[in-house]
Amino acid sequence: MLSGRPEIVAITPFTDEVWRVETADGRKMVVKQQLFGFLTQGKAYDLLTVEREVLGLLHEAGCPVPEVLGVDDDRQCIFFAWVGDDTLDDALQAGDTVLIGPAIEGLCTIERMCDRYAARLVSRVVPTAGRDELAAAWDATGVRAHEGLEQLSRRLGKSRDMAGAVLLLEKMHYWLAERPPSLGSTDYNARNVVVDPDGSRVRFIEFAKIGWDWTERRLVQYTTSMGSGRADGRMRSALHWDSALHYAEISGRADGARALDCHQIFFLLNGVAMLCASLDGGPRAEVLLARWREPAARLRQFAAMLSQALSADPVAAEFRDELRICLTSDGDRL
Ligand SMILES: Nc1ncnc2c1ncn2[C@@H]1O[C@H](COP(=O)(O)OP(=O)(O)OP(=O)(O)O)[C@@H](O)[C@H]1O
Ligand SMILES: [Mg+2]
Repeated sequence: MLSGRPEIVAITPFTDEVWRVETADGRKMVVKQQLFGFLTQGKAYDLLTVEREVLGLLHEAGCPVPEVLGVDDDRQCIFFAWVGDDTLDDALQAGDTVLIGPAIEGLCTIERMCDRYAARLVSRVVPTAGRDELAAAWDATGVRAHEGLEQLSRRLGKSRDMAGAVLLLEKMHYWLAERPPSLGSTDYNARNVVVDPDGSRVRFIEFAKIGWDWTERRLVQYTTSMGSGRADGRMRSALHWDSALHYAEISGRADGARALDCHQIFFLLNGVAMLCASLDGGPRAEVLLARWREPAARLRQFAAMLSQALSADPVAAEFRDELRICLTSDGDRL
């Protein structure tokens, strides 16, 4: 993959299937093995082909993504230029939120480019992420958010009547469902944003599966760290009122901050539902509780984040008002 066939001096795992490779001349690259890649071989949504094609056109268009150096079909491996050792998840856990600006701008550039190439990319959409699948997944998100709301009220709010909040939640759900989705990555979390070694920019990775989703939902999840698996892990988001306004400006969407605000509410309530289901001994409870330590503190963090508005959306504001008995802006002292 590298010119001159330099000698390899170190191979360091990022995960079980992704490694950093260093050569004697000081160059670094990343190798990812797509274990399930053979299942999609020959299909329009072939993982290696899609990742190479999408990253290729995004990179060429100047989007913040790593360059693809090559693909080994026989071994189902893809080779990328190394772009840094830390992810946005690491930076957020360290309390560093300065990368929110580059993250917003980067995602907006990527979304614009995917939109420009939509006619070509649409044939590459993975079957689980078509428009109908998005609608079904969004319905499920609404159901789980409702569960999260009930749990929050039961555990933090002395079983308050939630009928008003439920109606407002439905209103937000419907409004978000009606907004147009865009083509892009289906795997958006803060570990899929790599921070440059000098800490000033970010690059987005993981474009093996593309499909329909909402830019604002992607942005909320790209910029929220769950602190999974860390003993001291906590929920940390880089999105605040000012950054939401910045997003609305950069995206050119007048309702952008409101959409972020509402998507964040659904994301957080889904987290609450998952956490509480595990506390009730639901399926895979041990796995989740091992990753999300200190569940009581985490539940308070969810509540604290829910209380923080990202916009002046009147429905979201009324929703927070209905919930105020459960919510506090101080997640550690509730
Ligand atoms: N080009 C790159 N430069 C630096 N680090 C990278 C690069 N590509 C991947 N990484 C690191 O490797 C980790 C895993 O890579 P990636 O997200 O592509 O695979 P994955 O999450 O295992 O894939 P999947 O979700 O498809 O199973 C990333 O979180 C990041 O830390
Ligand atoms: Mg990943």
